[in-house]
Amino acid sequence: MRQQIAAANWKMNLSFQQAEALLDELLKKPETLKADQKVVIAVPFPYLQLAKAKLSGRKNTYVAAQNCFTKKSGAYTGEVSAEMIASMEVEYVVLGHSERREYFGESNAVLAEKTNIALEFGLTPIFCCGEPLAIREAGSQNDYVAQQLKESLFHLSADQLTKIVIAYEPIWAIGTGKTATADQAQEMHAHLRNTLASQYGQEVANSISILYGGSVKGANAADIFSRPDVDGGLVGGASLVAAEFGQIIDGLK
Ligand code: PGA
Repeated sequence: MRQQIAAANWKMNLSFQQAEALLDELLKKPETLKADQKVVIAVPFPYLQLAKAKLSGRKNTYVAAQNCFTKKSGAYTGEVSAEMIASMEVEYVVLGHSERREYFGESNAVLAEKTNIALEFGLTPIFCCGEPLAIREAGSQNDYVAQQLKESLFHLSADQLTKIVIAYEPIWAIGTGKTATADQAQEMHAHLRNTLASQYGQEVANSISILYGGSVKGANAADIFSRPDVDGGLVGGASLVAAEFGQIIDGLK
């Protein structure tokens, strides 16, 4: 049975003290996760250790970094390696978020390298894909998003692919308050699963969790997650408010 995941993406928000307070708030929520449900919290690098310490012992709850570099180690001032993240026993890393693609020029080819190194060090990539508004308006979103998967992931073996989580995040829905409808999410998720099946077979494709991201809130999470190919969400703004994120967790199917 594939995993249902509520993932928080804090992005570049919160002071250390605020991060601590938010984690403490989240810990007040009763532990209700079922065996196939997970919570993943992607925090800024300086808070990884704090998040690990606070959440250790919490059932089915994991920590993620929001990025890693393509190289193992060396003279790359300011960068953080997959090896460093893994050495802190952090389990996940978000790769290819649209903000990384847009503001830091991360191409599909660079993301193939990041995926490789993350897997090499045992991290689970949460690989983000999604189309900008102009592509959606032109009706070519299916090809655009399939291309992102092909160029960044299709060199992987089936065994490696099963270690990846995919997040579909239409750029026009991120931080805009304009959520894709549950139907739009389901349609794209089914397309992504078919794209994976065309390369790796249906069984592998069925085992991959595909999360939806873009203006998920407490009020709309359960509806979006109820669709058969939507396996939870990657949540930005609403994950900074404990009560909202709690409601999103409760929306997992
Ligand atoms: P949002 O961000 O929930 O604030 O729209 C989602 C994301 O960028 O992961």
